Amino acid sequence: MKILVTGGSGFIGSHLVTQLIAQGHDVITLDDLSNGKISLLNQVMDNPKHTFIQGSVLDRSLLNELMDQVDVVFHLAAVLGVKNLVEHPLKVIEGNIDGTRNVLEFAFARKQKVVFSSTSEVYGKNNNLPYNEDSDRVLGSTLKNRWCYATAKALDEHLCFAYAEKGLPITVVRYFNAYGPGATTSDYGMVIPKFIKAALTNSPITVYGDGNQTRCFTYIDDTVQGTIKCMDSNYNGEVFNIGRDEEISINQLANKIKFLCNSNSDIIHIPYDEIYGEKYEDTPKRIPNNEKARSLLGFSPLISIDEGLRKTIAYYQNELGYGSDR
Ligand SMILES: NC(=O)c1ccc[n+]([C@@H]2O[C@H](COP(=O)([O-])OP(=O)(O)OC[C@H]3O[C@@H](n4cnc5c(N)ncnc54)[C@H](O)[C@@H]3O)[C@@H](O)[C@H]2O)c1
Repeated sequence: MKILVTGGSGFIGSHLVTQLIAQGHDVITLDDLSNGKISLLNQVMDNPKHTFIQGSVLDRSLLNELMDQVDVVFHLAAVLGVKNLVEHPLKVIEGNIDGTRNVLEFAFARKQKVVFSSTSEVYGKNNNLPYNEDSDRVLGSTLKNRWCYATAKALDEHLCFAYAEKGLPITVVRYFNAYGPGATTSDYGMVIPKFIKAALTNSPITVYGDGNQTRCFTYIDDTVQGTIKCMDSNYNGEVFNIGRDEEISINQLANKIKFLCNSNSDIIHIPYDEIYGEKYEDTPKRIPNNEKARSLLGFSPLISIDEGLRKTIAYYQNELGYGSDR
């Protein structure tokens, strides 16, 4: 199959591209490198089955030209990360809505299969857990920038379903906190790489809020497995939770990472408003019901949090040269 992966040099995209090529597909990666890194594609950069194009999904003529060459599109290009959505809401809204409109419009013209990457964030602060795919969305005020990403992705999903009703073969996946080798450790990054970097350098591990909030972390191989199963299936116009349903609090996560890194780091707590001002509110829990993905797609998350963290820590130690002094 010939496949386009937008956002393919990002964290999830780079693992997806590498896996698709390992399965024998021909892949074009389109990424503007605003957050992605070519080095994440090192394994496949010289592979004749892979073409890397630096460019944006907002560049309509480039996107149209690339979509002419493929059968399937995985649309992952997006602007995300809590710091971005609090500080750069316009970038988040435009980056997520305009790019998706372009992909869907061009795919519809050709009736190409699309797999769209959405997020567990769309459920917002609904405290009726676990989340089924048809659970309500409960979002805060539009005066809080924090909700702009969830809103943009939800509008993207509405677009996907509207096109599906018109005959576009499209499947939506909602990821629950993917982690693993390659995720950025910068301030714009996710909690696990930031904690690992702090632990490996014996710097303070900074927990936002009281740390009792929980998440369900999903190792990247499981995230990619679920995503590819959507290409191989015919569940068009459907949405699937792609996540592991094992809950862990952020305090437990910090302690586990400190232990696994054999670190001297202190674990410190900072109130959210000291970091993000008044424009942030956290969701206390987020748990997927992954029964639909299990029964229809055969999705089966295999990697426990301990095993996944060990693999991820080994990556940062080896690839980035971080090491514990002990
Ligand atoms: N990481 C997670 O836990 C998680 C959770 C829920 C949803 N998602 C979704 O999964 C997808 C991938 O996320 P990720 O964690 O790999 O993030 P990422 O930032 O590492 O990847 C996104 C990629 O998109 C690229 N990009 C941004 N704007 C672009 C544009 N206009 N044109 C082309 N490329 C552009 C970036 O350079 C980056 O490489 C996103 O759609 C995200 O919303 C991720």
